[in-house]
Amino acid sequence: MRSTLVIAYLSAFLCSDSYSQNPLFIPDTLSGTTFNIAVQSGTTTFFAGHNTPTYGYNGNLLGPTLLMNKGDSVTLNVTNNLAVPTTVHWHGFHLPAKYDGGPHQIIDPGKTWSPSFKVRNEASTFWYHPHGNMKTEVQVTKGLAGMIIIRDSTEATYALPRRYKLDDFPLIVQSKGLDVLYQFTTGYHRDTVLMVNGTIDPYLQVPKQVVRFRLLNGSADRTYYFGLSDSSDMHLISSDGGLLSQQITTKRVRLSSGERAEILIDFGADTVGQQKYLMSFASELPHGIIGADSVGTNTIVLGDGYYTNPLNGADFNLLRFDVVSTTANPVTTIPASFTPVVPIPTASATVTRKLIFFPDTGFAGQQGFVEGPFFINNRLFNMDSINQVVYLNDVEIWTLINQTLVAHPFHIHDIQFFVVDINGTPPPPQYSGLKDVMLVMPNDTVRFITRFSDFADDSVPFMYHCHLLHHEDEGMMGTFIVIDTTNTSVYENILPKYISIYPNPSSGKIHAQFERSDIYNTFVYNTMGECVQKSIFSGQTLNLDTGSYPNGMYYLRVQSRKGSYYSKIIVQR
Ligand code: C2O
Ligand code: CU
Repeated sequence: MRSTLVIAYLSAFLCSDSYSQNPLFIPDTLSGTTFNIAVQSGTTTFFAGHNTPTYGYNGNLLGPTLLMNKGDSVTLNVTNNLAVPTTVHWHGFHLPAKYDGGPHQIIDPGKTWSPSFKVRNEASTFWYHPHGNMKTEVQVTKGLAGMIIIRDSTEATYALPRRYKLDDFPLIVQSKGLDVLYQFTTGYHRDTVLMVNGTIDPYLQVPKQVVRFRLLNGSADRTYYFGLSDSSDMHLISSDGGLLSQQITTKRVRLSSGERAEILIDFGADTVGQQKYLMSFASELPHGIIGADSVGTNTIVLGDGYYTNPLNGADFNLLRFDVVSTTANPVTTIPASFTPVVPIPTASATVTRKLIFFPDTGFAGQQGFVEGPFFINNRLFNMDSINQVVYLNDVEIWTLINQTLVAHPFHIHDIQFFVVDINGTPPPPQYSGLKDVMLVMPNDTVRFITRFSDFADDSVPFMYHCHLLHHEDEGMMGTFIVIDTTNTSVYENILPKYISIYPNPSSGKIHAQFERSDIYNTFVYNTMGECVQKSIFSGQTLNLDTGSYPNGMYYLRVQSRKGSYYSKIIVQR
């Protein structure tokens, strides 16, 4: 019943055109170690006779697929030819915070930003997209998104399809809203137009053999429940951060916004000329997920069009496969297993944190539990705040608690994580690999474990946030910095003019006065770089009792929102 509705609605939408299928657009690739990317605006004709204003990387819509090799040092020259600022985030990468492309790495119009980093992640499917403060949804919706394929020597040893455009295809799945002027709209639940790689009603010729698809949910908020129209099997081989230990034979793969999966489909037993569809079976999604037949509880009446969007709760086609003849050197079998992925043992965690998702209850009563804005630990995103301070190389367990009535795909930058458990139960196999986005259902508690290695920066934060772009833009985001307490070279960065300390040398109590009012942490280190005292701090004066310190030299480190400042302390009795 629902599907009939979709067809009726979409044909009404397509009124001036006859319903037809279009060849799937497949972005070209860029490879090597230097990538030149121009962010530009243009137009795209989705419906004959109508030009939709769009953004793209090196083109009018979407961007080239970047092919990178693990171990390479890459430089990305991103030139902003838009009339507005943008940022480009390398979603999935473990890299220095200043090259991450979050809200703080703004590229003004006419400027070029050139992050440069070593590719440390293993073979995986990542992506790149804008991440400006309160500007992510509008810029992604206008067309800014591209795929990144990382290859490595381990993945290369498996008999997997990896010939781009031949037996290895990117599928960027998005739903968007278009207004009567054929311009993209943002905001909740207007996304009635489906596209794969920017193509509406696409078809793709697939060879009669094992074919690999890299699925990316690039939608602002819709979750897809992928499956095939003829109920044949799919083989899940990879989660966000790399290959799983084993392939998983399945009829369904669920992806929330920002998530990726690599699947294999064996067309070997099909006949040439056969057609089947990649579909989303959203009628099977549980309540609470955006895209399901309802969010919140059924007693909440949403005034915003959720229930009139024909895609919600419906089963719909995404892409038609047309089976064509086998290529040379086809892959004909599904590899059963890969290198074992071994989660970090929970016993090695030394720090735990809790993030609680909670609605703005002041907003329209219960509807606020569904529509937000949503807080993380009672805070909305602030460009100048540091919400979490992480110590380099610490293994941490984060507990995500969803106290809202809608599911949120939680994403964290810098690291890949392992899901420890969902409501105390170990995750199902499809979530057993490396992840950087995890959908947290209403009332669920999800724990993950990770190690914050390699990249410390005293002043530039990484982000964690809901990957529903509307929620992110409304402030469901926080920041963390990773600091290295053993790096004594930073002590040369002493800026005593910001701190006055007396008496110094001292035999007991020390009084410190800060010029800045945005101090949030103070630390005292000995000359070995060991932290001997730490205090969470606010205000402008600090009274330190050094009475228990052995005689010698120490460093007082003061963290402000703009960076860290250091001053020497001498204890002398
Ligand atoms: Cu895909 Cu912080 O984003
Ligand atoms: Cu959310």
